Amino acid sequence: MTVTGIPQAYVTGWKGFYRREFAVNEHVLVPRPETEHLIEDALEFMHASGRRSILDVGTGSGAIACTLAGEIPDAIVTASDVSLPALAVAAQNAARLGVSGRCTFALADIAPDDQGRFDVIVANLPYIASADVPHKPHPVGFEPRLATDGGSDGLAQYRKLLAAAPRLVRPGALLLMEAAPPTIGGLRALAEAAFPQAAITVHRDYAGLERYVRVAT
Ligand SMILES: C[S@@+](CC[C@H](N)C(=O)[O-])C[C@H]1O[C@@H](n2cnc3c(N)ncnc32)[C@H](O)[C@@H]1O
Repeated sequence: MTVTGIPQAYVTGWKGFYRREFAVNEHVLVPRPETEHLIEDALEFMHASGRRSILDVGTGSGAIACTLAGEIPDAIVTASDVSLPALAVAAQNAARLGVSGRCTFALADIAPDDQGRFDVIVANLPYIASADVPHKPHPVGFEPRLATDGGSDGLAQYRKLLAAAPRLVRPGALLLMEAAPPTIGGLRALAEAAFPQAAITVHRDYAGLERYVRVAT
């Protein structure tokens, strides 16, 4: 039988992301080039501000955590996930990329309780409404449901993050959250409710689609 649709990265076991190679398997989302926009934004903020403590919520392969730790040599990163096998992949990537000394990987729903507050929070949580999650043989159907299914309106995990976020940020922190149409409008509204005083903007990706919400607290 010929099986079609399997993401090439699951066949090769590797995916390039922001100048690094990440090991991937069926327990993690394949890192997307769109997520590099959030990396660029976080790096610009960190270079300009000198801020160094990062929380990567829903780390998956560790692409965001390891990239930021690799690009900013004195950055300290906490990375969470609810998937133990995903955390194992992330920890292996951190070790191979030489950043495990500055990355803590935690099994946690949104964020561990004991890591304090952060200067930068980056999140690429699931944001597809359950009914819209593609099925095999669509490539996304091969990716973990935990990584793609955002509940009935696509925002279940982001709702949890934004309920917790005000007590996770230091004053002047930056919060970047990836999503896409049609849920990104709802995500922006949640961010505005959680951070009424913040400067909140929506940024587009290479294809011109609205891709992430930026909250300058
Ligand atoms: C869309 S994937 C993103 C993976 C990686 N950050 C990236 O950009 O390639 C979402 C990840 O969030 C994790 N996740 C889902 N709900 C979560 C929650 N409540 N707390 C922490 N992680 C969660 C999933 O297991 C999955 O690894």
